[in-house]
Amino acid sequence: MTDSWPLLLIDWYRAHARVLPWRNPPGAALPDAADWPYRVWLSEVMLQQTTVEAVTPYFRAFTARWPNVAALAAADDAQVMQAWAGLGYYARARNLLACARAVVAQHGGRFPGTEAELRALPGIGDYTAAAVAAFGFGRDAVVIDGNIERLTTRLFGIVTPLPAARGAIRDALGAVLPVAQAGDFAQAMMDLARRVCTPRNPQCLLCPIAAACAARSAGNAEDFPVKPAKRARPTRQGTAWWIEVDKHVLTVQRPAKGLLGGMRALPSCDWKGLGAQPPLPGDWRLLGAVQHGFTHFELELRVQALWLPERSLLQPAIAGADWVPVAEIASAGLPTLFAKAAALGQTAIRGELAA
Ligand code: ADE
Repeated sequence: MTDSWPLLLIDWYRAHARVLPWRNPPGAALPDAADWPYRVWLSEVMLQQTTVEAVTPYFRAFTARWPNVAALAAADDAQVMQAWAGLGYYARARNLLACARAVVAQHGGRFPGTEAELRALPGIGDYTAAAVAAFGFGRDAVVIDGNIERLTTRLFGIVTPLPAARGAIRDALGAVLPVAQAGDFAQAMMDLARRVCTPRNPQCLLCPIAAACAARSAGNAEDFPVKPAKRARPTRQGTAWWIEVDKHVLTVQRPAKGLLGGMRALPSCDWKGLGAQPPLPGDWRLLGAVQHGFTHFELELRVQALWLPERSLLQPAIAGADWVPVAEIASAGLPTLFAKAAALGQTAIRGELAA
């Protein structure tokens, strides 16, 4: 690891920084204006929702209408909600107002400058507190968002999966934070991560700090950040029943509650094992089994078939039954699990009937 990479990165930023209405130009002293931290905070809350491009017109409209935190705190709730429309989650807009009012009530209308005080305000978490401290007040705060996580795990070759890697990322960046330049440093990482160190096809040839990058030298940048291993899902087993009479197959409506609730399906057991008895006695044949993944488990569904010569053998009548022509079962709107099971029934060599 080359120790000088943060300074190389800041040099790159001086030449390539995006010009944004809430951003101090690289290397410049922070504006003295009392509303500066307000502008930073407002932009950061808006940027949690969407992209820089989408935020810019909203940012301009908000700051023209409510130029400082006291003006926003005094605003009519409905007007703020209306101005926020299109930016997404209204809960954020409600927190925005709650935060502006807390700054007025608790801090005399001036944002506090430390991360701890900022974090105590409504709607401000670790990321926003660090961003406002660094970009709004020039504090030496370690700012970490998703883009910075990607860049840092590549640079240092951090193989611990997220989110467990967050401590290592914070330590690595904290150790190299250039004094009094934390704002430029973080925004340089954001710009580099968006333009060069992209999730797919990173442009390592254009990267000003490639020589310091562990993933670049290993040639595996796209492997970072390492994602947590998916937890293995348990497998459940069950049986579905294909009951066919006169080229029609029996379908039922599943109970409204539970998995695939209210959907049309082949009759089946409760998927708690292979011990369930078929719904009627007869010469059942095993057609095979299908697999299907649900969010929390994998299902192995065995399919048994019974071919009956006439419907009168079905006593008593099955509630909610709908007889679907075998030739049309694929387009009967069954959910995928039962469509897979029905495909076995449709293509099966007919036992009783063929005999
Ligand atoms: N995303 C969040 N804050 C940002 C900033 N200050 N510059 C660029 N991208 C950002």
